[in-house]
Amino acid sequence: KRHLLSAGDLSREDALLILDTAEELSKVSQRSIKKLPTLRGRTVVNLFFEDSTRTRISFEAAAKRLSADVINFSARGSSVSKGESLKDTALTLEAMGADAVVIRHGASGAPHRLAGWIRGSVINAGDGTHEHPTQALLDAFSIRRAMGRVEGLKVAIVGDVLHSRVARSNVQLLHTLGAEVTLVGPPTLIPVAVDTWPCQVSYDFDAVLPKTDVVMMLRVQQERMNGAYFPSAREYSRRYGLDRDRFAKLHDDAIVMHPGPLNRGMEISAEVADSPRSIIVEQVGNGVLVRMAVLYLLLGGSESAIGGGE
Ligand code: CP
Repeated sequence: KRHLLSAGDLSREDALLILDTAEELSKVSQRSIKKLPTLRGRTVVNLFFEDSTRTRISFEAAAKRLSADVINFSARGSSVSKGESLKDTALTLEAMGADAVVIRHGASGAPHRLAGWIRGSVINAGDGTHEHPTQALLDAFSIRRAMGRVEGLKVAIVGDVLHSRVARSNVQLLHTLGAEVTLVGPPTLIPVAVDTWPCQVSYDFDAVLPKTDVVMMLRVQQERMNGAYFPSAREYSRRYGLDRDRFAKLHDDAIVMHPGPLNRGMEISAEVADSPRSIIVEQVGNGVLVRMAVLYLLLGGSESAIGGGE
């Protein structure tokens, strides 16, 4: 495959290859090899039209650990503010020799358009409310590490599903890997199209909790609300927030996840976010490994190169 645009494009074999490659890269990193020479001479462009902390930094770290040259582009401060189109921006980057473009954009489908315009690989780092496939991959990797498997686990994805590209990608990937996914949230924050997704839906968080192995909380995306969907913050928190009392309803081996950034006190209490059963910090670290694996596989790293370092 040349691009990573949607989690739904990944077969079970594709997904497992990425997770296994990330695991191999982790072993190499543990042998204190800071940098692999695999992508020396290749250029990765981070093209961010929306804000990001984790995704942008971890793609940069991943590319650098594979010895690629990295160009960071953020729309703020660029000629996009003078009205330059996505296509002209992309062609400019290609003229500068981009082998891969990692794109985050507010418009759903922007990475797909970009893939039609440039010769290099396109990686979707989040497009509107549509998809965030590398987040789903790092989440699956984190679940597998924490629980030993993904297949057969019961995963609840909770909160603002309507605006969540993380939820869309996770539903597809976790289903592909054999997990049973239940989406939980207020009816106004569950999309109508959910009927066609490979998951169940519940509006009753308390009823779902005791049957759940993995609870993945979603950020309430106030910047995408127009007021029509959202109850009050207090009401939301009371019905769908993961606080100490709800946490106590989970079984002892269950884990808590959140893609970040967190609204502490809204969808998750600080106490739960920082508890030993939360793997939120591990998710961020795993993001670098998984993005290394994606760059390595898309840009044609050779198997033998995993073993060598500098
Ligand atoms: N989870 C995630 O995509 O975080 P950022 O928006 O900080 O990249």
